[in-house]
Amino acid sequence: MIFDRNENKEVIILLGAGAMGTAIVRRFASGRKVLLGDISESNLKKASDDLKYSGYDVETCIVDATDKKSVEEFARMAESLGTVKYYIHTAGASPSQASPEHILKLDMVATGHAIETFGKVMARGGAGLIISSQTGYMYPIPYEIEQEILNTDKDRLSDLKFIKETAYQNSGLAYMIAKRVNHLQVMKAAAGSWKKAGARINSISPGIIVTPLAYDEFNGPGTTYQNMIDNSAVMRTGSIDEIAEAGAFLLGEHAKFITGSDLLIDGGVIASIRTGAYKLH
Ligand SMILES: NC(=O)c1ccc[n+]([C@@H]2O[C@H](COP(=O)([O-])OP(=O)(O)OC[C@H]3O[C@@H](n4cnc5c(N)ncnc54)[C@H](O)[C@@H]3O)[C@@H](O)[C@H]2O)c1
Repeated sequence: MIFDRNENKEVIILLGAGAMGTAIVRRFASGRKVLLGDISESNLKKASDDLKYSGYDVETCIVDATDKKSVEEFARMAESLGTVKYYIHTAGASPSQASPEHILKLDMVATGHAIETFGKVMARGGAGLIISSQTGYMYPIPYEIEQEILNTDKDRLSDLKFIKETAYQNSGLAYMIAKRVNHLQVMKAAAGSWKKAGARINSISPGIIVTPLAYDEFNGPGTTYQNMIDNSAVMRTGSIDEIAEAGAFLLGEHAKFITGSDLLIDGGVIASIRTGAYKLH
């Protein structure tokens, strides 16, 4: 049966077909052509089945976000499907899942590369959404170093003295710094290449959202996650649907004046930390 007779549908791309990304697509992609990319064949199949059995028009592609060629081929595939209007980036690894080296390669450098690559194929009026993290607010980087980061090509970020001396110490620090760098990469693209393309780009920094990735953190050592939940304003974890709602807003027509921004959705964890109501150890 043909579910949808419309042609020339807008293309929406998701790189990182995990829990959060798939929820955003489900909330936003009705009537559009969906292209999912992921390094994991099983995650890709799960996300694709989930969406297909709900009536979405889905194509898939195995992509390694850390491999430039793979991402560029993925972008070409997107272009071949129609007008590329929306890009969502959720490919990432959490501190319990990876070494500092891998986190910096995937969450920092590869995210920068994907932003650059998709900036080249976005149609005017398009929008991008990068999933960063509340941890991007946990390790404030001095202003001058942020300027240095903004003025350094993504491929040379790992050579910066600050990154070498700080981010490589452990996976937690690597993650916090990579996710702050995502905010800077979004600002840089919004004011630069994405502006030229006539497209907007923003990020969301989620707090603790229950997904398989978060379960890996819950099962890790220490009580930090429980302490964050207990000391947050709303005293609970968040759901992928709460992120999807905000994601759909930022991608959609009501957010046309919003670009280069980060939306922190953390139930008040960072507010507690910044005001000293809760001390993160
Ligand atoms: N869940 C949370 O509590 C939370 C909080 C803050 C930020 N985040 C961030 O949100 C994003 C999505 O997380 P999620 O919770 O949906 O996790 P998830 O594990 O469900 O999704 C991540 C997806 O990225 C894919 N991926 C990993 N490496 C890849 C690579 N090299 N190339 C392509 N795909 C790759 C994985 O296979 C997976 O499908 C991540 O960037 C994560 O850091 C999550």
